[in-house]
Amino acid sequence: MENKLKIFGGKRLVGDVNVEGAKNAILPILAGVILCDGKIEIKNCVDISDVRCMREILKTMNVSSLAKEATLYIDTQKIENQKITHDLTQKVRASIFMLGALLGRFRKASIAFPGGCKIGARPIDIHLRGFKSLGVKVVERHGYIYCNAENMKAGKVVFDFPSVGATESLMMCASLLQGTTKIYGAAKEPEIVDLQNFLNKMGANIHGAGTDCIEIVGVEKLHGGEYEVMPDRIICGTYLLAAATCGGDVTVHNALAWHNEALLSFLKQTACQIDVYNDKIRLRADKRLLSIDKIQTLPYPFFPTDLQPQMMVLQSISEGACTMAENIFENRFSLVPELGKMGANIVVKDRTAVISGVQKLYGADVSASDLRAGAALVIAGMKAEGYTTISNVHYIDRGYERIEEKYSSLGADIKRI
Ligand code: UD1
Repeated sequence: MENKLKIFGGKRLVGDVNVEGAKNAILPILAGVILCDGKIEIKNCVDISDVRCMREILKTMNVSSLAKEATLYIDTQKIENQKITHDLTQKVRASIFMLGALLGRFRKASIAFPGGCKIGARPIDIHLRGFKSLGVKVVERHGYIYCNAENMKAGKVVFDFPSVGATESLMMCASLLQGTTKIYGAAKEPEIVDLQNFLNKMGANIHGAGTDCIEIVGVEKLHGGEYEVMPDRIICGTYLLAAATCGGDVTVHNALAWHNEALLSFLKQTACQIDVYNDKIRLRADKRLLSIDKIQTLPYPFFPTDLQPQMMVLQSISEGACTMAENIFENRFSLVPELGKMGANIVVKDRTAVISGVQKLYGADVSASDLRAGAALVIAGMKAEGYTTISNVHYIDRGYERIEEKYSSLGADIKRI
């Protein structure tokens, strides 16, 4: 039977917590290793189920990986191009990154349509249009995508939306392609800069990540080497929002403020105290915080969709009302009925939620419907009066390593049952 999380709420959070490597940086890097020939050490790696699924896919291609503490040792010297089947892609949406990397390395790839969290339709048309604009032939048949890149040529890729995944796919696809490829309208997330840094460390020649135009000068081959992954800005934001919601005094280590400026600027409006240091952020909250009038999710550097559910919990117990618009995924208010069971007052119309702050949340039996909704429900449970039980914990485990241990160390009463 699947685990649940049982939380007895109402405890303040006090202490220090460390942020691990970023899931959204590690996953594309685990596809990027396909482009490399040699041994690769990825440091600051997390042991979460999405990472384990990507390793499983690599294993089917004869790429070995061994996790020792926070380092992943990978060997790609015996790599073989294999079709990536439905049972593998259903477990992790990031499997789509493998397509770009396989095309870059072998010029041919086939993969089943990817799965992942159910936060919207999540098509992959932008990835595929990007490949096609470089001359890749794409055939979709019976749930599989077959790509042939024998006639692929470096050139111009123009996105009509800054998709994070498509930007990363195209960077990988073009890394070993003779000539210069330019991606216009690229996404600017820090994880894209991290992928550029990883690929460059292995011998690639990529510039411009972090801006909306990325230039990839193709090289002949990529080698092995060591790389340390950036810290997870979404986990950092989750801890800060947990501290703001539950009250207390928490210092988040391995936290880069410039990755989370939009969040920090909102948090300052709530009247909690924030102290920013080089690589840590301290948040103190002693009383009920103020609502933020308007929040909308947008691509980086604006407020991230991956922190929207956690922010919704904070707004649900703040003083005042908040209008929150979700512009990235169409199905990201799935926790609203669950928060309603706990006493929150939230009305959703289309892609906007109006959250009227209540004085208290009450413990309830709730269910996580995706990764970040699950992380948000944990915060709600830690704030609520009485017991909360959260089911579907596997969603939370996709992105947070032993979340109950982290919060217990800060004084929360939370256990896995
Ligand atoms: C990545 C992150 C995810 C985050 C999201 C937005 C990883 C592993 N995941 O997901 O945590 O929530 O960025 O910051 O890095 N879209 C299309 N067609 C496509 C691709 C995307 O319509 O081909 C749409 C999506 O359905 C979504 C929006 O564009 O509505 C944003 O998607 P995208 O930026 O691609 O996000 P992901 O790479 O899937």
